[in-house]
Amino acid sequence: MDGLDTLKAKYLAAIATAADESALEEVRVGALGKKGEISALMAGLGKMEPDQRKAAGAMLNVLKDEIDAALRARKSGLADAALDARLKSEWLDVTLPARPRRTGTIHPVSQVMEELTAIFADMGFAVAEGPQVESDWYNFDALNIPPEHPARQEHDTFFMNRAAGDDRPPHVLRTHTSPVQIRAMTEQGAPIRVIAPGRVYRMDMDQTHTPMFHQVEGLCIDRDVSMANLKWVLEEFCRAFFEVPSVELRFRASHFPFTEPSAEVDIRCSWEGGQLKIGEGDKWMEILGSGMVHPKVLKAAGVNPDEWQGFAFGMGIDRLAMLKYGIPDLRAFFESDLRWLRHYGFAALDLPTLPAGLSR
Ligand code: DAH
Repeated sequence: MDGLDTLKAKYLAAIATAADESALEEVRVGALGKKGEISALMAGLGKMEPDQRKAAGAMLNVLKDEIDAALRARKSGLADAALDARLKSEWLDVTLPARPRRTGTIHPVSQVMEELTAIFADMGFAVAEGPQVESDWYNFDALNIPPEHPARQEHDTFFMNRAAGDDRPPHVLRTHTSPVQIRAMTEQGAPIRVIAPGRVYRMDMDQTHTPMFHQVEGLCIDRDVSMANLKWVLEEFCRAFFEVPSVELRFRASHFPFTEPSAEVDIRCSWEGGQLKIGEGDKWMEILGSGMVHPKVLKAAGVNPDEWQGFAFGMGIDRLAMLKYGIPDLRAFFESDLRWLRHYGFAALDLPTLPAGLSR
C-alpha cells in the first residue's frame, strides 16, 4: 500500500483541476466507480492475510473518504460557479415596464360603466342589478305605469312570446333600468342608495337609436332627502365624469309617471367648430331624467311613503360615452368592428379610479 500517497495526490490534483461537473464525474468514476482504481484496491483486500487486510483496509477507507470529500466540495463549488455564470448570461430587468400587447381593448360602454360606478361609489351608492327579461309588473305597473297609460306605447316594447293558454305574468325585454329600483327597494328596504347600470331594449333603430342600449338608474331613499340633494349629486357626478373643474346644470320641469315632481336635466356646453365642450358656452344639452320618487312607487316596493322619500334618475350610458369620448355614431358601438374597437377602446389594465384619474 505504499503507493496510496501518490494515488491521493493524483486524484486530489485531478479533482482540483476538473473544469466542470462532467469532468469531475469522470474523475469520480476513475477512482471510486465500480471499476475505479481505489475500488479495485479494496476488492484486493479479500486476498490478504487478516492482519495486513485490517491495516490496509483502514488506510484505503481514509483515502476513499478524503477523495469523496474533495469530490463533494469541488462539485458544490462548480455548481455555484455554473449558477453564477447562468445568472450573468440570463439576467432580466424586472423594473422594465410591461410591453402592452393591446390585442384586446375595453369597450367604451364598459369603460364608462366603470367610471360612473367609481364616481357613485365615492358618494355611497352601491351597484344593484335586475334581469333583462322582466315582468311587465316590474317594468311598468310598479313604476306607476298602469296598462292603459300612454307611456307604455312610448316605450316601443319588445314582448316575450307566449303560447296560447300560458297564464304566467307577461314578460318584456326591460325598456329601462327603472324596474331595478323596485327590486332593490323590495330586497333591501329603506334607507337605500344604489345605481343600476345595464342593458335595456326598445324597438328603434337610426343614427342615435339602437334596439339595445345602456342606461344607469340612480336611487336614493332616506328620511330627509330633497331635490337639493339630487341636484348636488348630479352636479358632482357630471363634474367628475366629464373631468372639468365646474359644470352648470339646468332643471326643466317634466313628467315621468314614477316621479313627482319630475325634471329633465340639461348641461351647459358649447359646440365650437363641431367640438363639444362641457361646462362652458351658451348651449344646453339634455342628459338625463330625474325626480322625487312617486309615493305609489315606494308603496309598490313595500316602502312606507309617510316615513321615507328620495330621488331617482336615469341616463343613457352610450350617450355619455359619445359625449365624453367624441364618438359620432351610436350604431358603431355594437357592430364589433375591430378597427373601431382599437380606435375607441381602452387599455385593459387602466381601471378607472378617482385617485388615479378616470380616463387617461
Ligand atoms: N326610465 C326613464 C327612461 O327610460 C328615465 C328616468 C327618468 C329614470 C326619470 C328615472 C327618473 O329614475 O326619475 O326614459
